[in-house]
Amino acid sequence: MYQKQLPTTEPASTRPAAPGSSNSGLTTPGRLIELRQVSKTYPGAGGGFTALSQVDLEFCAGEYVAIVGKSGSGKSTLLNMLTGIDHPSQGTVRINGVAVHTLGESALASWRGKNIGIVFQFFQLIPTLTVLENLLLAMDFVKVIARNERQQRAELLLQQVGIAQHGHKLPSALSGGEQQRAAIARALANDPPIVVADEPTGNLDSQTTEVIQGLFKELADAGKTVIVVTHDRAASARFDRVVTLKDGAVESDQPKATAESGARP
Ligand SMILES: Nc1ncnc2c1ncn2[C@@H]1O[C@H](COP(=O)(O)OP(=O)(O)OP(=O)(O)O)[C@@H](O)[C@H]1O
Ligand SMILES: [Mg+2]
Repeated sequence: MYQKQLPTTEPASTRPAAPGSSNSGLTTPGRLIELRQVSKTYPGAGGGFTALSQVDLEFCAGEYVAIVGKSGSGKSTLLNMLTGIDHPSQGTVRINGVAVHTLGESALASWRGKNIGIVFQFFQLIPTLTVLENLLLAMDFVKVIARNERQQRAELLLQQVGIAQHGHKLPSALSGGEQQRAAIARALANDPPIVVADEPTGNLDSQTTEVIQGLFKELADAGKTVIVVTHDRAASARFDRVVTLKDGAVESDQPKATAESGARP
């Protein structure tokens, strides 16, 4: 089963900033991620739709954070701002010394590969590749892990998420929980300091949800910054911090103790 010893190449906090760090992306000391006045308006009739409005948020290295809120409150949009999958209409996103909002598509893809592991609700493994090949492709694309170490690292990651025996299967031959473990292993392939997940347990039964949440907690304990979007308010008590979005704005931002006591009658 999963073991605490992750194959980390170096602590996240000591990693050098990614290429592009000269682009005025300095974050405040001690903070890994800073969003300042981030707004996102999707174009449309009547001036479009504002999915995020002047969001200010900061995350420190090693934080284990839940993003909660009703459907449509802007959770996925917020994650997309962090990962650079989408660009803010206004405001700045600075991560580990890089002004993410200024990067073009090619620089973004390279930066993202090195810095952020992404886990999706529906896994998004490449269906025509085996699980091991999915991990190897992620490493081949980013090239931070030496070529002669990739196979062994992929096998070790699968072992650590508890699916070593499934590496040579296609994703379709795995259960949902096993596919999500594979997706988490892939997210860790290049040893990024940050892992984000958008409803990673939204498609899983409650027992498998426990296992997957346990994996994310282990990652945070190992020093990764882990940010998880979840619909499950009960689950949010497991996190160190709970950020609640409402109508595209931060409604509350609470450390665990406050979030838990606030949830009690
Ligand atoms: N590409 C888009 N074009 C127009 N509107 C969009 C687009 N993407 C999202 N929206 C709108 O922005 C709002 C926020 O969407 P978002 O996907 O961030 O919500 P969410 O909190 O992740 O919801 P859910 O819990 O259902 O996944 C929604 O009202 C949505 O309809
Ligand atoms: Mg969403």
